[in-house]
Amino acid sequence: MTLPTHVTLVEVGPRDGLQNEKLPVSTAHKAQMVALLQAAGLKEIEVTSFVSPKWVPQMADNLAVMAAIQRLPGVRYSVLTPNMQGLQAALPTHPDEIVVFAAASEAFSQKNINCSIAESIERFAPVVAAAHAAGIKVRGALSCAVGCPYQGEVSPDEVERVARLMKAIGVDHLGIADTIGVGTPKKIQAAMERALKHYPLDQVSGHFHDTYGQALTNIYACLEIGVHTFDASVAGLGGCPYAKGATGNVATEDVVFLLNGLGIETGIDIDKLVDAGLFISDALGRQPVSRVGRALLAKRAG
Ligand code: HMG
Ligand code: MG
Repeated sequence: MTLPTHVTLVEVGPRDGLQNEKLPVSTAHKAQMVALLQAAGLKEIEVTSFVSPKWVPQMADNLAVMAAIQRLPGVRYSVLTPNMQGLQAALPTHPDEIVVFAAASEAFSQKNINCSIAESIERFAPVVAAAHAAGIKVRGALSCAVGCPYQGEVSPDEVERVARLMKAIGVDHLGIADTIGVGTPKKIQAAMERALKHYPLDQVSGHFHDTYGQALTNIYACLEIGVHTFDASVAGLGGCPYAKGATGNVATEDVVFLLNGLGIETGIDIDKLVDAGLFISDALGRQPVSRVGRALLAKRAG
């Protein structure tokens, strides 16, 4: 078994990390968070969402955030767009990539985006076509790939069914998401392998919430089958407002520490990453959730 030599991390902290925060985070803090993340070497950053501000109030300043970030060449800035209305609002802000998000379970699709899986695919098809016409890459997220807060277990067949549909409408890349963090290595590998029937290795990624503390192990299980792109959220922030009880994403600091230890390149400076995690945790008035972040901060203090 050979592990990949390089891993790409997609930083989802400014979007997934903050979307569930009840108290408003200022636009200036969001822009500074992005600035610190790119300074740490992140080359892919999910900045915000163009969703209904009634559903996700924290993302209501999407236009202002996109205007406030200071873009660096070589960094890809992405935004979530669940429908044409979202894409049309996002286009003038020139995202490099958009994300459409479907679910492997019907119940979660209804709760999260207020439509069935089939309806979501119908909605995404023109969004994908319009994004491509504008020269924008489309990433797809597939939520609840191993478990759903409403349905319970989700089977690999259900994952493959939606992976096939996403491929058919032209979604370029598929992220397999464990929204509620219940996955364990064999289940995650089984879901990934179904995605890999429709997407090449360099167009799949893992997005693992760490509710049950399995995310790092699941990333290792994905490395074993060659997957080399993962979403992560600095300081371990995150959660979905429509997945009750789900905690943050795997912390970017923790993933970088793991990969450094394995000798796998990421291009990320872990100390600068810890600074980014500290900055946003301070803004939220709490300690970073990241174990590595805390350990490195304790080491600095000592
Ligand atoms: P809907 O109510 O079915 O939409 O919502 P609608 O088309 O019937 O429109 C109703 C109202 O929403 C109208 O406004 C529209 O203008 C407005 P009103 O006339 O009532 O004032 N609207 C919008 N406003 C702004 N931007 C838009 C938009 N579309 C409609 N794009 C919708 C459908 C998808 C918009 C809604 O359900 C929604 O916003 N849901 C939020 C979903 C969300 O952001 N979830 C969290 C992100 S996904 C996630 O975290 C999972 C992920 O991390 C992977 C994982 O961990 O699983 C990616
Ligand atoms: Mg998520």
